[in-house]
Amino acid sequence: MSEIQSLYLKAIFKEPVERTPVWIMRQAGRYLPEYQEVRSKHDFLTVCKTPELATEVTLQPIRRFGFDAAILFSDILVIPEALGQTLQFMENHGPKLSPQLLTEKEFDQLSADDLPAKLSFVAEAIAMLRPALPEGTPLIGFSGSPFTLATYMIEGKPTRNFKYIKTMLYSNPKLLEGLLELLSDAVSTYLQMQIRAGAQAIQIFDTWGGILPVHLYRRYSANYMKKIVRQLKPLKVPVTLFSRGGLSYLLQLEDSTAEMLGVDWLTDMGEAKRHLGGVAALQGNLDPTALYGSREIIKQEVDKILDVFGSQSGHVFNLGHGILPDIPVDNVYFLVDYIRQRSSALHAQR
Ligand code: CP3
Repeated sequence: MSEIQSLYLKAIFKEPVERTPVWIMRQAGRYLPEYQEVRSKHDFLTVCKTPELATEVTLQPIRRFGFDAAILFSDILVIPEALGQTLQFMENHGPKLSPQLLTEKEFDQLSADDLPAKLSFVAEAIAMLRPALPEGTPLIGFSGSPFTLATYMIEGKPTRNFKYIKTMLYSNPKLLEGLLELLSDAVSTYLQMQIRAGAQAIQIFDTWGGILPVHLYRRYSANYMKKIVRQLKPLKVPVTLFSRGGLSYLLQLEDSTAEMLGVDWLTDMGEAKRHLGGVAALQGNLDPTALYGSREIIKQEVDKILDVFGSQSGHVFNLGHGILPDIPVDNVYFLVDYIRQRSSALHAQR
């Protein structure tokens, strides 16, 4: 008999489950009225940096939907800030990091000293969250991938064509590699801190690796994530790598040794399982915009994913990217209820 209580962890380790576990990327956030209520009183970074507020906001979607995992409320961009850039969230314009990192001069001003001390608010939030979470609901800690963090640090603000990071990659690759090395060490240190504080699983978000041609993706994004996975192994906490861009990118993670791979909504789950189901558990991958759709079509799309696994373990249901801020809460209730009901029926057939 397994000692593991959590459906999410059981699915990652491919132990039998009575139904498919489900959580939603960006589950704590703006689509929830109770989150908006907290945000009407505190700005976003204050919520991230105040352990009581981060704890409250992390628990909100767990209370409402009883998701099978909680994800720490924070942001991937606290690392660039801890390394010395100035971080601002502009209302409706997304994040801004300054000074933009374009040359050796800005690079030399970064410092990875005392990273755990600078990010101690994250460890404090984790320590506060663990006893507040229901038994069987593990806490996922997270980070951006080195390449994704580098993208924000070099571009400075949201971009369409990724001109600055691509210019650096094609004209001064040594500088980019230096930054990616620094970020790999920083991410590894940061995730080890989260695990020591109590995070029971880790997810690395590689939001922007998919802007690269696949061979460069392998070199500039996948390889650094693999190094981090190797460094975390001794801590014995399962790691999920979430990348975007479709199956060609996901295939580059086949030899990552990550326990789970996050499948984006561009990818056919059946194909992902055929190629990668033997090496890792899979997470995903409903198109987030399907939640604008009718209930009949939401059911069809959910069935299509659940049927790939049938009564087998090794699948965590999620969206193929983060939930959008204007999704009606009722549709999320409907989605979660339907996944539970349908996957229980499939697993009962075992
Ligand atoms: O529920 C959760 O997932 C918890 C926390 C979480 C946030 N951001 C909170 C947040 C997580 C895991 C993230 C990850 C994150 N942050 C990623 C990777 C995942 C992805 O979606 O690809 C990225 C690229 C970021 C960077 C970021 N943070 C952007 C681009 C923005 C602005 C646009 C947007 O999506 O809101 C943020 C702000 C942010 N991070 C908000 C939240 C709840 C909204 C802030 C607000 O309340 O106004």
